[in-house]
Amino acid sequence: MRSRSLGNTGLEVSELGLGTWGLSGDSCGSVPEAEQDKVIDRARALGITLFDTADSYAHGKMEERLGRRLPADSQTCIVTKIGTDRDADPPQKRFSVSYLRAAFEKSRDRIGRDTLDVVLLHNPSVAAIEKGDATGLLEELRKSGAVRAWGVSVGDPDTGRAAAKSGAQVLELAYNVLHSHDLRDLTELVTEKQIGILARSVLSYGLLCGHWPPHKTFPGIDHRAQRWTADELRRRVSQLDAVRALVGGPVLTMRAGALRYVLANDLVGSAVLGPRNIIQLDQLVREGGREPPYLDDEKLAKLATRLTDVGVEQ
Ligand SMILES: NC(=O)c1ccc[n+]([C@@H]2O[C@H](COP(=O)([O-])OP(=O)(O)OC[C@H]3O[C@@H](n4cnc5c(N)ncnc54)[C@H](OP(=O)(O)O)[C@@H]3O)[C@@H](O)[C@H]2O)c1
Repeated sequence: MRSRSLGNTGLEVSELGLGTWGLSGDSCGSVPEAEQDKVIDRARALGITLFDTADSYAHGKMEERLGRRLPADSQTCIVTKIGTDRDADPPQKRFSVSYLRAAFEKSRDRIGRDTLDVVLLHNPSVAAIEKGDATGLLEELRKSGAVRAWGVSVGDPDTGRAAAKSGAQVLELAYNVLHSHDLRDLTELVTEKQIGILARSVLSYGLLCGHWPPHKTFPGIDHRAQRWTADELRRRVSQLDAVRALVGGPVLTMRAGALRYVLANDLVGSAVLGPRNIIQLDQLVREGGREPPYLDDEKLAKLATRLTDVGVEQ
């Protein structure tokens, strides 16, 4: 497993990371606890050193699980996120200093490390960032040695820009072959400020495996049931024809092409995977490619043309 620098944080992380939202049961339904442990252990055995979580995943249980399975003396980097109050009904975003300080202490207890590797604000608004007190708290925690690096998980480029300008060292954002414009918009700023990028949703929630029929449905507890209308999903499945341009030679599947597309971007510090079992994890690690070039230039050029043809923003 290759490692990459996470921006200018001084952290070296595996270029494939393990995300734990899917494992937590919060995104697509429950995963047996024994399988959650096996996936985490298998990830370590495969050389994965970056683990992505949040205090809200399974109401903190995923932080506890990672803390138990990844000893503090191991060479692992746990990224966690704070700012979602799931005790409120309905759950609320909260970025006041008093709330975040208490949330940070709870995360530190659950993970069981004196110093947390990376702490991110979990999807704040631009206004919450520009207010300055939430980012100021994270910077204070970094200066005191309670966290190694801090950043923001963002849902759009405007929030990414606000975070970069407020001193975030790490940005986590959706980045995949059908959704590449956010990172492209931020490229100059990210390069100039040497911000570490954690790319999430690299398979577009599973769509980019190319296995779904146009009329795919999801059970109500699955976040994908609310994510797309039936028409929208049909349109996206039809756009996958363009992504097939990546398959061929060492790129055996569309899934492999999608993952390699993310790894081919040097701005990415780690591609945060979302497997829900060991089989999926093994497939992704096996197919992702071991070293550059992940995709050849000819394939990338062909892909760009085809994506434009099917109406994907470039
Ligand atoms: N706001 C945030 O900070 C935020 C938001 C989203 C995600 N994240 C982080 O990023 C991680 C990954 O995000 P994501 O869940 O959106 O990732 P993703 O990789 O785009 O999608 C995950 C889905 O892909 C499918 N999948 C995974 N491996 C597969 C394989 N080998 N073959 C076929 N299907 C496969 C699974 O679908 P099935 O369940 O249908 O099998 C899984 O639910 C999360 O776990 C979390 O840590 C953070």
